[in-house]
Amino acid sequence: MSNTLAPAASQLAFLGGTPVGEVTYSKFPQFSPRAIERVVEVLKAGKAIGLGRFHSPEIEEAELTISRYHGGREVLACSSGHAALQGALAGLEIACGDEVITTPYTWGASISCILHQNAIPVFVDVEADTGVIDPAKVEAAITPRTKAILAVHIFGQPANLQKLRAIADKHGIYLIEDGSQAHGAEIGGVKVGNVGDAAGFSCMGGKVLPTTEAGYLVTPKKDVFWKAAMIGQHMGRSPEKDFPDDLRPWVDSLVYTYRVTPLNAVLLTEQFGVIDSWVAERRRHADMFRKKIAGSRFLKLPNYAEGVKPVYHLLTMNFDAAAAGVSRNTFAAALKAEGMLAFGYVPSPIPDWKRLHWQGYEGPKVSWLAALEKAGVDYRNMALPNCRHRVANSIETRFDFIDDRTDMINRMATIIEKVESNIDALRERERTHGAVAAAKR
Ligand SMILES: Cc1ncc(COP(=O)(O)O)c(C=O)c1O
Repeated sequence: MSNTLAPAASQLAFLGGTPVGEVTYSKFPQFSPRAIERVVEVLKAGKAIGLGRFHSPEIEEAELTISRYHGGREVLACSSGHAALQGALAGLEIACGDEVITTPYTWGASISCILHQNAIPVFVDVEADTGVIDPAKVEAAITPRTKAILAVHIFGQPANLQKLRAIADKHGIYLIEDGSQAHGAEIGGVKVGNVGDAAGFSCMGGKVLPTTEAGYLVTPKKDVFWKAAMIGQHMGRSPEKDFPDDLRPWVDSLVYTYRVTPLNAVLLTEQFGVIDSWVAERRRHADMFRKKIAGSRFLKLPNYAEGVKPVYHLLTMNFDAAAAGVSRNTFAAALKAEGMLAFGYVPSPIPDWKRLHWQGYEGPKVSWLAALEKAGVDYRNMALPNCRHRVANSIETRFDFIDDRTDMINRMATIIEKVESNIDALRERERTHGAVAAAKR
Protein backbone atom coordinates (compact mmCIF):
# COMPACT_ATOMS: atom_id res chain seq x y z
CA MET A 1 0.00 0.00 0.00
CA SER A 2 0.99 3.62 -0.38
CA ASN A 3 2.48 5.38 2.55
CA THR A 4 1.40 8.90 1.65
CA LEU A 5 1.24 10.37 5.12
CA ALA A 6 3.40 7.76 6.90
CA PRO A 7 0.84 7.52 9.72
CA ALA A 8 1.40 3.93 10.75
CA ALA A 9 3.29 4.64 13.92
CA SER A 10 0.81 7.18 15.25
CA GLN A 11 -1.94 6.21 17.66
CA LEU A 12 -5.38 5.37 16.29
CA ALA A 13 -7.92 8.18 16.50
CA PHE A 14 -10.33 5.55 17.86
CA LEU A 15 -7.97 5.21 20.83
CA GLY A 16 -7.43 8.93 21.34
CA GLY A 17 -4.84 9.72 18.65
CA THR A 18 -5.03 12.31 15.87
CA PRO A 19 -7.26 11.40 12.89
CA VAL A 20 -5.74 11.17 9.42
CA GLY A 21 -8.41 13.59 8.18
CA GLU A 22 -11.91 13.57 6.78
CA VAL A 23 -12.56 12.00 3.41
CA THR A 24 -14.53 14.60 1.49
CA TYR A 25 -16.48 14.14 -1.73
CA SER A 26 -17.35 15.90 -4.91
CA LYS A 27 -20.45 18.07 -4.47
CA PHE A 28 -23.21 15.53 -4.87
CA PRO A 29 -25.82 15.61 -6.19
CA GLN A 30 -24.84 18.23 -8.72
CA PHE A 31 -27.19 20.05 -11.08
CA SER A 32 -25.74 22.09 -13.93
CA PRO A 33 -26.67 25.80 -14.30
CA ARG A 34 -28.67 24.79 -17.37
CA ALA A 35 -30.60 22.13 -15.42
CA ILE A 36 -31.43 24.67 -12.74
CA GLU A 37 -32.47 27.24 -15.34
CA ARG A 38 -34.77 24.71 -16.94
CA VAL A 39 -36.37 23.83 -13.60
CA VAL A 40 -37.04 27.52 -13.02
CA GLU A 41 -38.62 27.80 -16.47
CA VAL A 42 -40.91 24.86 -15.70
CA LEU A 43 -41.95 26.44 -12.42
CA LYS A 44 -42.48 29.84 -13.99
CA ALA A 45 -44.69 28.25 -16.62
CA GLY A 46 -46.73 26.62 -13.82
CA LYS A 47 -46.17 23.09 -15.11
CA ALA A 48 -46.93 21.47 -11.80
CA ILE A 49 -48.80 18.29 -12.69
CA GLY A 50 -47.12 15.02 -13.61
CA LEU A 51 -49.08 13.72 -16.54
CA GLY A 52 -47.80 11.56 -19.35
CA ARG A 53 -45.61 12.26 -22.35
CA PHE A 54 -48.54 13.27 -24.54
CA HIS A 55 -49.33 16.16 -22.21
CA SER A 56 -45.84 17.24 -21.29
CA PRO A 57 -42.99 17.93 -23.75
CA GLU A 58 -40.60 17.76 -20.79
CA ILE A 59 -41.69 14.22 -19.93
CA GLU A 60 -41.59 13.17 -23.55
CA GLU A 61 -38.06 14.55 -23.88
CA ALA A 62 -36.90 12.73 -20.73
CA GLU A 63 -38.40 9.42 -21.81
CA LEU A 64 -36.85 9.70 -25.28
CA THR A 65 -33.48 10.63 -23.80
CA ILE A 66 -33.51 7.64 -21.44
CA SER A 67 -34.74 5.40 -24.23
CA ARG A 68 -31.72 6.37 -26.35
CA TYR A 69 -29.48 5.50 -23.39
CA HIS A 70 -31.19 2.10 -23.17
CA GLY A 71 -30.93 1.13 -26.81
CA GLY A 72 -34.41 2.28 -27.83
CA ARG A 73 -36.36 0.43 -25.14
CA GLU A 74 -39.68 1.74 -23.90
CA VAL A 75 -39.25 4.12 -20.97
CA LEU A 76 -41.77 5.29 -18.42
CA ALA A 77 -40.52 8.08 -16.19
CA CYS A 78 -41.90 7.70 -12.68
CA SER A 79 -42.07 9.39 -9.30
CA SER A 80 -39.58 7.00 -7.65
CA GLY A 81 -37.64 3.79 -8.01
CA HIS A 82 -40.29 1.97 -6.03
CA ALA A 83 -42.96 3.22 -8.43
CA ALA A 84 -40.91 2.04 -11.41
CA LEU A 85 -40.36 -1.40 -9.87
CA GLN A 86 -43.98 -1.88 -8.90
CA GLY A 87 -44.87 -0.70 -12.40
CA ALA A 88 -42.56 -3.40 -13.77
CA LEU A 89 -44.41 -6.10 -11.87
CA ALA A 90 -47.83 -4.66 -12.72
CA GLY A 91 -46.80 -4.34 -16.37
CA LEU A 92 -45.83 -8.02 -16.42
CA GLU A 93 -49.08 -8.84 -14.56
CA ILE A 94 -47.33 -10.35 -11.58
CA ALA A 95 -49.69 -10.26 -8.60
CA CYS A 96 -51.87 -12.19 -6.17
CA GLY A 97 -49.74 -15.07 -4.94
CA ASP A 98 -47.29 -15.25 -7.86
CA GLU A 99 -43.80 -16.10 -6.68
CA VAL A 100 -40.86 -13.84 -7.42
CA ILE A 101 -37.39 -15.19 -6.68
CA THR A 102 -35.21 -12.47 -5.31
CA THR A 103 -32.35 -11.44 -3.06
CA PRO A 104 -32.35 -10.99 0.70
CA TYR A 105 -29.44 -8.56 0.39
CA THR A 106 -30.84 -5.25 -0.83
CA TRP A 107 -32.77 -2.13 0.01
CA GLY A 108 -36.36 -2.81 1.14
CA ALA A 109 -37.99 -1.30 -1.94
CA SER A 110 -36.69 -4.18 -4.09
CA ILE A 111 -39.02 -6.34 -2.01
CA SER A 112 -41.87 -3.95 -1.18
CA CYS A 113 -42.63 -3.67 -4.92
CA ILE A 114 -43.40 -7.41 -4.83
CA LEU A 115 -45.39 -7.18 -1.59
CA HIS A 116 -47.54 -4.31 -2.85
CA GLN A 117 -48.64 -6.52 -5.73
CA ASN A 118 -49.64 -9.19 -3.18
CA ALA A 119 -47.05 -11.39 -4.82
CA ILE A 120 -44.71 -13.57 -2.79
CA PRO A 121 -40.97 -12.92 -2.47
CA VAL A 122 -38.91 -16.12 -2.48
CA PHE A 123 -35.49 -15.37 -1.05
CA VAL A 124 -32.36 -17.16 -2.22
CA ASP A 125 -28.76 -16.63 -1.22
CA VAL A 126 -26.25 -14.31 -2.84
CA GLU A 127 -22.71 -14.68 -4.12
CA ALA A 128 -20.28 -14.31 -1.22
CA ASP A 129 -17.79 -12.02 -2.94
CA THR A 130 -20.24 -9.42 -4.30
CA GLY A 131 -23.64 -9.88 -2.67
CA VAL A 132 -25.51 -10.16 -5.99
CA ILE A 133 -28.05 -12.98 -6.37
CA ASP A 134 -26.58 -16.44 -7.02
CA PRO A 135 -28.00 -17.86 -10.29
CA ALA A 136 -27.53 -21.47 -9.12
CA LYS A 137 -29.73 -20.79 -6.08
CA VAL A 138 -32.31 -19.12 -8.30
CA GLU A 139 -32.71 -22.14 -10.53
CA ALA A 140 -33.12 -24.46 -7.54
CA ALA A 141 -35.96 -22.31 -6.16
CA ILE A 142 -38.20 -22.34 -9.25
CA THR A 143 -41.67 -23.86 -8.72
CA PRO A 144 -44.80 -23.97 -10.89
CA ARG A 145 -45.88 -20.73 -9.16
CA THR A 146 -42.71 -18.82 -10.06
CA LYS A 147 -43.45 -15.90 -12.37
CA ALA A 148 -40.20 -13.95 -12.27
CA ILE A 149 -36.68 -13.44 -11.02
CA LEU A 150 -35.99 -10.01 -9.57
CA ALA A 151 -32.24 -9.31 -9.57
CA VAL A 152 -30.71 -6.29 -7.85
CA HIS A 153 -27.48 -4.69 -9.05
CA ILE A 154 -26.44 -3.92 -5.50
CA PHE A 155 -23.88 -1.16 -4.91
CA GLY A 156 -23.71 -0.68 -8.69
CA GLN A 157 -22.39 -4.22 -9.36
CA PRO A 158 -24.27 -5.95 -12.17
CA ALA A 159 -25.93 -9.23 -11.25
CA ASN A 160 -25.09 -12.11 -13.58
CA LEU A 161 -27.65 -11.12 -16.19
CA GLN A 162 -26.64 -13.52 -18.92
CA LYS A 163 -27.01 -16.56 -16.66
CA LEU A 164 -30.25 -15.24 -15.17
CA ARG A 165 -31.68 -14.55 -18.64
CA ALA A 166 -30.87 -18.10 -19.70
CA ILE A 167 -32.59 -19.51 -16.59
CA ALA A 168 -35.64 -17.30 -17.10
CA ASP A 169 -35.93 -18.34 -20.74
CA LYS A 170 -35.44 -22.02 -19.96
CA HIS A 171 -38.30 -21.96 -17.44
CA GLY A 172 -40.57 -19.51 -19.25
CA ILE A 173 -40.48 -16.89 -16.49
CA TYR A 174 -39.67 -13.18 -16.52
CA LEU A 175 -36.48 -11.42 -15.51
CA ILE A 176 -36.86 -8.09 -13.71
CA GLU A 177 -33.89 -5.88 -12.90
CA ASP A 178 -33.58 -3.43 -10.04
CA GLY A 179 -30.99 -1.01 -11.39
CA SER A 180 -31.60 1.63 -8.73
CA GLN A 181 -27.95 1.67 -7.67
CA ALA A 182 -26.45 0.87 -11.04
CA HIS A 183 -27.19 3.36 -13.84
CA GLY A 184 -24.62 2.67 -16.54
CA ALA A 185 -23.24 -0.59 -15.11
CA GLU A 186 -22.45 -3.22 -17.73
CA ILE A 187 -21.96 -6.95 -17.99
CA GLY A 188 -20.91 -8.80 -21.13
CA GLY A 189 -21.04 -5.59 -23.14
CA VAL A 190 -24.67 -4.88 -22.20
CA LYS A 191 -25.96 -2.14 -19.93
CA VAL A 192 -28.05 -3.19 -16.95
CA GLY A 193 -31.70 -2.61 -17.70
CA ASN A 194 -31.28 -3.91 -21.24
CA VAL A 195 -31.55 -7.63 -20.47
CA GLY A 196 -34.65 -7.98 -18.33
CA ASP A 197 -38.28 -8.03 -19.42
CA ALA A 198 -38.54 -4.90 -17.32
CA ALA A 199 -36.23 -2.89 -15.09
CA GLY A 200 -36.78 -0.21 -12.50
CA PHE A 201 -34.31 2.54 -11.63
CA SER A 202 -34.33 5.03 -8.75
CA CYS A 203 -33.16 8.57 -9.34
CA MET A 204 -33.44 9.83 -5.78
CA GLY A 205 -30.90 12.46 -4.86
CA GLY A 206 -28.18 10.07 -3.65
CA LYS A 207 -28.13 7.75 -6.66
CA VAL A 208 -25.60 7.53 -9.50
CA LEU A 209 -28.13 9.50 -11.56
CA PRO A 210 -29.72 11.89 -9.07
CA THR A 211 -32.79 14.09 -9.41
CA THR A 212 -35.04 15.22 -6.58
CA GLU A 213 -36.88 11.88 -6.14
CA ALA A 214 -37.81 10.20 -9.40
CA GLY A 215 -37.30 6.92 -11.18
CA TYR A 216 -37.92 5.17 -14.48
CA LEU A 217 -39.01 1.89 -15.93
CA VAL A 218 -37.34 0.30 -18.95
CA THR A 219 -38.88 -2.52 -20.97
CA PRO A 220 -38.61 -3.96 -24.47
CA LYS A 221 -42.37 -4.62 -24.44
CA LYS A 222 -44.91 -1.99 -25.38
CA ASP A 223 -47.76 -3.71 -23.52
CA VAL A 224 -45.68 -3.77 -20.32
CA PHE A 225 -45.10 -0.05 -20.70
CA TRP A 226 -48.83 0.66 -21.05
CA LYS A 227 -49.92 -1.63 -18.22
CA ALA A 228 -47.32 -0.03 -15.97
CA ALA A 229 -48.43 3.45 -17.02
CA MET A 230 -52.02 2.48 -16.25
CA ILE A 231 -51.38 1.77 -12.57
CA GLY A 232 -49.48 5.02 -12.12
CA GLN A 233 -51.58 7.48 -14.04
CA HIS A 234 -55.27 8.14 -14.46
CA MET A 235 -55.62 7.39 -18.18
CA GLY A 236 -59.27 8.40 -18.11
CA ARG A 237 -58.51 11.98 -17.18
CA SER A 238 -55.25 12.27 -19.07
CA PRO A 239 -55.28 9.66 -21.85
CA GLU A 240 -52.06 9.13 -23.75
CA LYS A 241 -51.79 9.16 -27.51
CA ASP A 242 -51.64 5.56 -28.80
CA PHE A 243 -53.06 4.11 -25.57
CA PRO A 244 -54.17 0.65 -26.71
CA ASP A 245 -57.88 0.07 -27.25
CA ASP A 246 -57.82 -3.34 -25.57
CA LEU A 247 -56.81 -1.72 -22.27
CA ARG A 248 -59.44 1.05 -22.38
CA PRO A 249 -62.21 -0.98 -20.69
CA TRP A 250 -59.97 -1.33 -17.65
CA VAL A 251 -59.25 2.35 -17.18
CA ASP A 252 -60.45 3.96 -13.95
CA SER A 253 -58.96 6.03 -11.19
CA LEU A 254 -57.96 3.09 -8.97
CA VAL A 255 -54.38 4.16 -9.51
CA TYR A 256 -51.28 5.15 -7.61
CA THR A 257 -49.78 8.54 -8.37
CA TYR A 258 -46.58 7.23 -9.84
CA ARG A 259 -45.90 9.67 -12.69
CA VAL A 260 -42.86 11.89 -12.86
CA THR A 261 -43.30 15.66 -12.57
CA PRO A 262 -42.17 17.95 -15.45
CA LEU A 263 -39.70 19.41 -12.98
CA ASN A 264 -37.95 16.09 -12.43
CA ALA A 265 -38.33 15.28 -16.12
CA VAL A 266 -36.02 18.16 -17.08
CA LEU A 267 -33.57 17.04 -14.41
CA LEU A 268 -33.63 13.51 -15.83
CA THR A 269 -32.90 14.83 -19.33
CA GLU A 270 -30.04 17.02 -18.14
CA GLN A 271 -28.47 14.40 -15.88
CA PHE A 272 -28.36 11.89 -18.73
CA GLY A 273 -26.11 14.41 -20.49
CA VAL A 274 -23.42 13.98 -17.81
CA ILE A 275 -23.86 10.43 -16.56
CA ASP A 276 -21.18 8.89 -18.79
CA SER A 277 -18.48 11.19 -17.50
CA TRP A 278 -19.58 10.71 -13.88
CA VAL A 279 -19.55 6.93 -14.25
CA ALA A 280 -16.10 7.10 -15.87
CA GLU A 281 -14.81 9.12 -12.90
CA ARG A 282 -16.28 6.67 -10.37
CA ARG A 283 -14.57 3.81 -12.21
CA ARG A 284 -11.26 5.64 -12.49
CA HIS A 285 -11.26 6.32 -8.76
CA ALA A 286 -12.21 2.71 -7.98
CA ASP A 287 -9.32 1.44 -10.14
CA MET A 288 -6.91 3.72 -8.27
CA PHE A 289 -8.29 2.56 -4.93
CA ARG A 290 -8.03 -1.10 -5.90
CA LYS A 291 -4.34 -0.66 -6.69
CA LYS A 292 -3.71 1.32 -3.50
CA ILE A 293 -5.18 -1.29 -1.19
CA ALA A 294 -3.92 -4.35 -3.06
CA GLY A 295 -1.56 -5.07 -0.16
CA SER A 296 -4.23 -4.85 2.52
CA ARG A 297 -4.24 -7.87 4.83
CA PHE A 298 -7.86 -7.56 5.93
CA LEU A 299 -9.81 -5.74 3.21
CA LYS A 300 -10.38 -6.98 -0.33
CA LEU A 301 -12.48 -5.54 -3.10
CA PRO A 302 -14.68 -8.06 -4.93
CA ASN A 303 -13.09 -9.70 -7.95
CA TYR A 304 -15.04 -8.88 -11.07
CA ALA A 305 -15.01 -11.25 -14.03
CA GLU A 306 -13.99 -9.98 -17.44
CA GLY A 307 -16.74 -7.76 -18.86
CA VAL A 308 -18.23 -6.82 -15.48
CA LYS A 309 -18.22 -3.04 -15.13
CA PRO A 310 -19.72 -1.74 -11.89
CA VAL A 311 -20.52 1.93 -11.33
CA TYR A 312 -19.67 2.15 -7.61
CA HIS A 313 -22.81 3.76 -6.21
CA LEU A 314 -21.21 2.57 -2.98
CA LEU A 315 -17.88 0.79 -2.75
CA THR A 316 -18.09 -2.56 -0.98
CA MET A 317 -15.14 -4.36 0.60
CA ASN A 318 -14.85 -7.82 2.10
CA PHE A 319 -13.39 -7.68 5.61
CA ASP A 320 -11.54 -10.73 6.94
CA ALA A 321 -12.41 -10.69 10.65
CA ALA A 322 -10.56 -13.94 11.39
CA ALA A 323 -7.29 -12.61 9.97
CA ALA A 324 -7.75 -9.22 11.65
CA GLY A 325 -8.69 -10.69 15.02
CA VAL A 326 -11.29 -7.96 15.55
CA SER A 327 -14.91 -7.66 14.57
CA ARG A 328 -16.03 -5.78 11.47
CA ASN A 329 -17.80 -3.23 13.65
CA THR A 330 -14.70 -2.38 15.65
CA PHE A 331 -12.55 -2.17 12.51
CA ALA A 332 -15.15 0.07 10.81
CA ALA A 333 -15.32 2.29 13.89
CA ALA A 334 -11.54 2.69 13.75
CA LEU A 335 -11.71 3.68 10.04
CA LYS A 336 -14.50 6.11 10.82
CA ALA A 337 -12.58 7.72 13.65
CA GLU A 338 -9.73 8.42 11.20
CA GLY A 339 -12.16 10.24 8.88
CA MET A 340 -13.51 7.64 6.42
CA LEU A 341 -17.14 6.61 6.12
CA ALA A 342 -17.28 2.87 6.87
CA PHE A 343 -20.54 1.06 7.49
CA GLY A 344 -22.54 -2.08 6.79
CA TYR A 345 -25.22 -1.05 4.28
CA VAL A 346 -27.60 -3.99 4.72
CA PRO A 347 -28.52 -4.23 8.42
CA SER A 348 -29.86 -7.81 8.26
CA PRO A 349 -31.21 -10.23 5.65
CA ILE A 350 -34.61 -8.93 4.60
CA PRO A 351 -36.48 -12.15 5.47
CA ASP A 352 -35.50 -11.50 9.11
CA TRP A 353 -37.60 -8.34 9.14
CA LYS A 354 -40.58 -8.52 11.48
CA ARG A 355 -43.10 -7.01 9.07
CA LEU A 356 -42.78 -10.12 6.93
CA HIS A 357 -43.54 -12.51 9.78
CA TRP A 358 -47.31 -12.96 9.68
CA GLN A 359 -46.99 -15.61 12.39
CA GLY A 360 -47.90 -13.77 15.62
CA TYR A 361 -47.38 -10.32 14.07
CA GLU A 362 -48.30 -7.48 16.46
CA GLY A 363 -47.05 -4.34 14.70
CA PRO A 364 -48.99 -1.73 12.73
CA LYS A 365 -51.13 -3.45 10.10
CA VAL A 366 -49.55 -3.93 6.68
CA SER A 367 -51.32 -4.98 3.51
CA TRP A 368 -49.21 -7.96 2.50
CA LEU A 369 -49.54 -10.20 5.55
CA ALA A 370 -52.69 -11.91 4.30
CA ALA A 371 -51.00 -12.90 1.04
CA LEU A 372 -47.95 -14.23 2.87
CA GLU A 373 -50.14 -16.18 5.28
CA LYS A 374 -52.20 -17.61 2.44
CA ALA A 375 -49.00 -18.71 0.71
CA GLY A 376 -47.81 -20.21 4.01
CA VAL A 377 -44.32 -18.78 3.70
CA ASP A 378 -42.11 -18.81 6.76
CA TYR A 379 -39.22 -16.38 6.49
CA ARG A 380 -38.06 -16.82 10.07
CA ASN A 381 -34.61 -18.34 10.50
CA MET A 382 -33.65 -18.74 6.85
CA ALA A 383 -30.05 -19.99 6.54
CA LEU A 384 -28.72 -17.71 3.74
CA PRO A 385 -25.06 -18.14 4.81
CA ASN A 386 -23.45 -15.87 2.22
CA CYS A 387 -25.95 -13.09 2.86
CA ARG A 388 -25.40 -13.34 6.61
CA HIS A 389 -21.65 -13.37 6.16
CA ARG A 390 -21.80 -10.17 4.11
CA VAL A 391 -24.21 -8.49 6.53
CA ALA A 392 -21.72 -9.17 9.33
CA ASN A 393 -18.46 -8.66 7.45
CA SER A 394 -18.63 -6.33 4.47
CA ILE A 395 -17.64 -2.70 4.80
CA GLU A 396 -19.27 -0.15 2.51
CA THR A 397 -18.14 3.38 1.88
CA ARG A 398 -19.56 6.29 -0.07
CA PHE A 399 -17.96 6.73 -3.49
CA ASP A 400 -19.36 9.92 -5.03
CA PHE A 401 -16.14 10.90 -6.78
CA ILE A 402 -17.27 12.59 -9.99
CA ASP A 403 -14.36 14.98 -10.36
CA ASP A 404 -10.70 14.45 -9.60
CA ARG A 405 -10.34 13.35 -5.96
CA THR A 406 -7.06 11.44 -6.18
CA ASP A 407 -6.11 13.02 -2.86
CA MET A 408 -9.12 11.39 -1.21
CA ILE A 409 -8.31 7.98 -2.65
CA ASN A 410 -4.82 8.37 -1.19
CA ARG A 411 -6.34 9.43 2.11
CA MET A 412 -8.61 6.39 2.28
CA ALA A 413 -5.63 4.12 1.59
CA THR A 414 -3.65 5.91 4.28
CA ILE A 415 -6.47 5.43 6.78
CA ILE A 416 -6.70 1.73 6.03
CA GLU A 417 -2.95 1.35 6.32
CA LYS A 418 -2.89 3.17 9.64
CA VAL A 419 -5.64 1.01 11.13
CA GLU A 420 -4.02 -2.19 9.88
CA SER A 421 -0.64 -1.18 11.28
CA ASN A 422 -2.24 -0.66 14.67
CA ILE A 423 -4.24 -3.85 14.65
CA ASP A 424 -2.67 -5.13 17.88
CA ALA A 425 -3.89 -2.08 19.78
CA LEU A 426 -7.36 -2.51 18.27
CA ARG A 427 -7.45 -6.19 19.28
CA GLU A 428 -6.48 -5.25 22.81
CA ARG A 429 -9.18 -2.60 22.91
CA GLU A 430 -11.81 -5.11 21.76
CA ARG A 431 -10.55 -7.64 24.34
CA THR A 432 -10.94 -5.17 27.19
CA HIS A 433 -14.03 -3.23 26.06
CA GLY A 434 -15.91 -5.69 23.81
CA ALA A 435 -16.79 -5.19 20.15
CA VAL A 436 -18.45 -2.02 18.86
CA ALA A 437 -22.20 -2.66 18.65
CA ALA A 438 -22.97 -1.62 15.08
CA ALA A 439 -21.30 -0.29 11.94
CA LYS A 440 -23.79 2.41 11.02
CA ARG A 441 -23.32 5.25 8.60
C1 LIG B 1 -31.75 -1.21 -4.63
C2 LIG B 1 -32.86 -0.19 -4.52
N1 LIG B 1 -34.08 -0.50 -5.00
C3 LIG B 1 -35.09 0.38 -4.95
C4 LIG B 1 -34.94 1.62 -4.41
C5 LIG B 1 -36.13 2.53 -4.32
O1 LIG B 1 -35.96 3.73 -4.93
P1 LIG B 1 -36.79 5.02 -4.45
O2 LIG B 1 -36.23 5.42 -3.13
O3 LIG B 1 -36.53 6.01 -5.52
O4 LIG B 1 -38.21 4.60 -4.38
C6 LIG B 1 -33.69 2.00 -3.92
C7 LIG B 1 -33.48 3.36 -3.40
O5 LIG B 1 -33.25 3.79 -2.40
C8 LIG B 1 -32.61 1.07 -3.96
O6 LIG B 1 -31.41 1.36 -3.48
